[in-house]
Amino acid sequence: MSIKTRLDGTFALTASQIAKSFGETQVLRNINLDLAPGEVVALLGPSGCGKTTLLRIAAGLLAASSGQMQIAGARVVDGSRFNAPPEARGIGMVFQDYAIWPHLTVLENVAFPLRMRKMGRNEREGRARRALDRVGLSHLSDRFPGTLSGGQQQRVALARAIVAEPPLVLFDEPLSNLDRELREGLALEIGALLRELGLSAIYVTHDQSEAFTIADRVAVMLGGEVAQIDTPERLFAAPASVEVAQFLNIGALIEGRVCRTHGFTCSRDRLSLPDLARSAPEGPARILIPRTAIRPATEGALMAQVLRCQFQGDRYLLHLGLDGESTSLVCPTDRAVALNSQIPLAIDQDRLRVFPH
Ligand SMILES: Nc1ncnc2c1ncn2[C@@H]1O[C@H](COP(=O)(O)OP(=O)(O)OP(=O)(O)O)[C@@H](O)[C@H]1O
Ligand SMILES: [Mg+2]
Repeated sequence: MSIKTRLDGTFALTASQIAKSFGETQVLRNINLDLAPGEVVALLGPSGCGKTTLLRIAAGLLAASSGQMQIAGARVVDGSRFNAPPEARGIGMVFQDYAIWPHLTVLENVAFPLRMRKMGRNEREGRARRALDRVGLSHLSDRFPGTLSGGQQQRVALARAIVAEPPLVLFDEPLSNLDRELREGLALEIGALLRELGLSAIYVTHDQSEAFTIADRVAVMLGGEVAQIDTPERLFAAPASVEVAQFLNIGALIEGRVCRTHGFTCSRDRLSLPDLARSAPEGPARILIPRTAIRPATEGALMAQVLRCQFQGDRYLLHLGLDGESTSLVCPTDRAVALNSQIPLAIDQDRLRVFPH
């Protein structure tokens, strides 16, 4: 029976109003999160925003200060009063520092969670071999971890985390010790494997492309809170705040004001954006111009200065200064443009976002 059917109708995880303080310092607040069966959610945020802290609370390695959490329908956290131990939660975990046992062979490492569940030797070895096969390591089952590369060790950790087909797998920056090429390949594989097995997972990373590769939804964490949780596409199309747009580096943010007669105006350029003036409230605001909303044109709503023109083999990347030089945007084009020239940009107004002050 697959996890999906076993969890039918029950959330893999629900967190409500989880908060955590260390002494006087509040590190997490108001964390609400529902993970559907088979869903993969990435926690994406800058260093120190509380990602690991939240994951450790889900794992049972750290007690919450307040709030409730359930895993596969079972209560695991109830304020500071109740905190189920990690082994009672039946979850799989993969951390940055592999955490596989050096004195056990690859096969024994992967079979370990099944041994803890008192499964017979034949069955647990059969299942461990199948898990190793899924991560492409069956040929290394008798080796000791010390003789494996970093990428191979992380595959062992992955096989061990999924071998028992747990209701939830937790990942904390599992690829951050690997080099870039390996990281991209393994991120794709992890995403595919989780989907194939129908496993639910929380995947912590501060790498945007890794989060977008692996997750169905991404929770952007800023300053100990979930600032927005959405699909990658929705995060880009409709960031909930200036901070989310800045963190995701969606485009240029320009200070100015919206007025009925002129559209959006800023200190230097007058933008002719009448649609925006109709839809946004009048007054001071910041406007987000996503990279995807602009293109060099023969005439356009906005003039930009070419700060850099970078040849990339199949195209040129223009670094453009808007609003003087304080705001910049990067945009691809198929021909070289002279440095410091002023070029008109056509703007797709439907993609602009206004954040009133
Ligand atoms: N045991 C602790 N005692 C005191 N403060 C702590 C403790 N653990 C974490 N913190 C603080 O909580 C904040 C969040 O830490 P956390 O490790 O969750 O961040 P993170 O988002 O995982 O960052 P990174 O991307 O660098 O791993 C940090 O300011 C950290 O210093
Ligand atoms: Mg961390």
